[in-house]
Amino acid sequence: MPQLTINGNAYSFEKGKTILQVALDNGFEIPHYCYHDSLSIPANCRICLAEVGQPNPKTGALEWIPKLMPTCHTMAADGMVIRTDSDKAVANQKAVMEYLLINHPVDCAVCDQAGECHLQDYSYEYGRSESRFQEEKIKNPKKDVGPNILLYSDRCIMCTRCVRFTREVTQTNELMVEGRGGTEMIDVFPGMALDNELAGNVVDLCPVGALLDKKFLFQQRVWFLKSTASIDGITSSGDNITVDHNDGRVYRIRPRTNMAVNQWWITDEVRHGWEFVHREDRLSMPAIRGADAFSRDDAAEAWLAATDRAARVLREGAASGSLALVASPMISCEDAYLLAREVLSLDPNAALIVGPVPVVGADKTFPNGFVVRAEKAPNARGVRRVLEALARSTAGRTAGTAVHDASAGLGALTSAGAGTVLLTGNYPSEWITPDWATALGTRRVVMLDTLPNRMTSAAEVLLPAATWVEKAGTFENATGRLQGFDRAIDPIDYCKSESQIALDLRASLSGGVAAPYDAAAVRAEMSRVAGLECFATAHHPAPAKPLVESDMTLVEL
Ligand code: SF4
Ligand code: FES
Repeated sequence: MPQLTINGNAYSFEKGKTILQVALDNGFEIPHYCYHDSLSIPANCRICLAEVGQPNPKTGALEWIPKLMPTCHTMAADGMVIRTDSDKAVANQKAVMEYLLINHPVDCAVCDQAGECHLQDYSYEYGRSESRFQEEKIKNPKKDVGPNILLYSDRCIMCTRCVRFTREVTQTNELMVEGRGGTEMIDVFPGMALDNELAGNVVDLCPVGALLDKKFLFQQRVWFLKSTASIDGITSSGDNITVDHNDGRVYRIRPRTNMAVNQWWITDEVRHGWEFVHREDRLSMPAIRGADAFSRDDAAEAWLAATDRAARVLREGAASGSLALVASPMISCEDAYLLAREVLSLDPNAALIVGPVPVVGADKTFPNGFVVRAEKAPNARGVRRVLEALARSTAGRTAGTAVHDASAGLGALTSAGAGTVLLTGNYPSEWITPDWATALGTRRVVMLDTLPNRMTSAAEVLLPAATWVEKAGTFENATGRLQGFDRAIDPIDYCKSESQIALDLRASLSGGVAAPYDAAAVRAEMSRVAGLECFATAHHPAPAKPLVESDMTLVEL
């Protein structure tokens, strides 16, 4: 394997990589602004320049290239020696930093990017501590460039990542460089807006605080945010994401690089799809139809009473041989498993139905292969996989192993004579159609859901459920990939995950004490069921990183 040396450290590499790529692959930092793994390499920011020496092919003697070379654009070669810490390279780094900051407003105190800004970091590492610039700074304007994005031109360092993104990745070409030299600026083409399914990714791509997400603007200093690895919870993409949160509140969702799934990107739909988590009207207290509302002062008592009532309804439904489970494609595999396990233990012949799977339009594939999924549910396949395996492995089941689609579900409720339904929702918007409301209106319903809808007041028992960011679990995406996600925030108010509700129901039915939900333990149990071995052999757990705990303590004044 070829080898090169950077600042005295030897690194092996595969042919076809640039010096910067070899350095980054090996965890060695060479400062860079314009380079990004996903984009073409214009080598225009010049901060990555280094001294490069190569062995003479005839004599083998090391010969230094007279000029500094852009490491992002220079192919790595066997025997190369690179110096990023030589006087010449360091002088260039300082000069580039000084140049970039000449017209920069240095408004870190009010900039959303402060704390995760490459300009700040590199200024500290490679810049000079004082500005020598005495003249008047050029003041560039702030611009509203799209429905979700602002451009603070005065912070822009003209790396052109954003322009190349709209040309090379989305090929929507909304952005351009206008002007020349000291007056050049990023802008949208006249009459256009930065408005495509992937537009929000420019905010992550921008190495400084020039492109900003309107919804995150001034919401939170990033050093207070904790980050939790998660998976898209509103479409079937399985996009890998990071949930940034603080004090029980989600503030933003960003993509987590996974070349096998979403590359470096997420859609704006996924980026902003968490907002229902904090809707004012979230269901947060259990309720029993016809009974007085429970006091929020005694939520534990309320949950006990509601769970006992739900258990009674389900037991009576099972006794009359008319139980059905509608497992929403929005819940996790673990949720579906624990709920179905309880229902089938009460009635081995219970009807098993996958709830409605919303589909909007058709899949859209971008030129780089990124797919925007039309299916707006994260786990239709996983829920079906679990229900089918349990139906096959349930002793004494004579009702067949078929698991019904929602379209056939209404018919299944009737044909199975299901008079009692355990119904799960967890959709980000209204999902009960008039057909379902009519069909369910004649039945006894125990409902687990997150937002109010046509059925919440009609259900005999309502148990408020947690959204995916409030629990751990597994989703199976549109390509059949099983991916685990961690709990980012605690369930809001008095909600519980569907898994915990299933365990509470088990305790109520058996007279025991409810076990706390443990996603890994449930998956281990699932993997012992025929057909669910994949939860041990093909499960992709959420990585321990990028869990980032804030190292800032808030001092009360
Ligand atoms: S707005 Fe950001 S990404 Fe675009 S050129 Fe300026 S610094 Fe680079
Ligand atoms: S990263 Fe090499 S010139 Fe910009």
